[in-house]
Amino acid sequence: MAAHAGGLTSTPAVRVRDLHRSFSANGGVLNGLDLDIAAGEFVALIGRSGTGKSTLLRALAGLDRDVKGSGRIAVPDSVSVVFQDSRLLPWKRILGNVTFGLRGGDADRRGRQALAEVGLAGREQAWPYQLSGGEQQRAALARSLVREPRLLLADEPFGALDALTRIRMHTLLRKLCEAHRPAVLLVTHDVDEAIVLADRVILLDGGVVRTDVPVDLPDRSRNSPAFADLRAHLLDQLGVEAS
Ligand SMILES: Nc1ncnc2c1ncn2[C@@H]1O[C@H](COP(=O)(O)OP(=O)(O)O)[C@@H](O)[C@H]1O
Ligand SMILES: [Mg+2]
Repeated sequence: MAAHAGGLTSTPAVRVRDLHRSFSANGGVLNGLDLDIAAGEFVALIGRSGTGKSTLLRALAGLDRDVKGSGRIAVPDSVSVVFQDSRLLPWKRILGNVTFGLRGGDADRRGRQALAEVGLAGREQAWPYQLSGGEQQRAALARSLVREPRLLLADEPFGALDALTRIRMHTLLRKLCEAHRPAVLLVTHDVDEAIVLADRVILLDGGVVRTDVPVDLPDRSRNSPAFADLRAHLLDQLGVEAS
């Protein structure tokens, strides 16, 4: 993972200033949010359900053009988005899904390489329904990464997977991000997932970034005291009683 650059020396990949979004007259979802993400930095976004995590992600992805709001958003030219469901096109084979919309004569080769990177070599000609949920998310990651995005936005991408598959996907996502170095904003409700994966964890509350902590652990073992301390701190910030 990239070192936390702090955004002082290099231009951040993502720069958000005074972002406001609201869906009704009785109050905003985002209320003047500021956020920087350095190039290559992995940021996890946590927060209680309904605090506006997806709203922020959709704003960064440019998917919220009908939503009322204001503020400044700067993101790289190439942005990929992964959601909780893979959103594969059911009428296209896996390779066709990964290369869909890709230009250039080497699209097939790049698609095959991306599938190999996510562990799906040999499944190029499968249909989406023939893949397990975890495999479908692998394909969705391949479809994102084949575009070499400078920013990867992921909204609870592992939320529908069983615990063991989720842990495998953590390992895969870290490996992919270390190889490709996009800036990442990962929305998750899983505090452990945030600590395992991110360089920095931010907590959204009241429409602004309430907590912003670097993940500065000697290792990412879930059993280490430093991990437990950070987990307890974040759960406390979330208003959850740590057990
Ligand atoms: N398209 C929409 N229309 C109306 N209200 C919305 C819409 N999208 C989100 N909201 C509301 O905005 C708030 C934040 O939603 P969301 O960003 O999805 O939260 P989170 O992802 O943190 O759970 C919620 O109260 C939700 O009901
Ligand atoms: Mg959400």
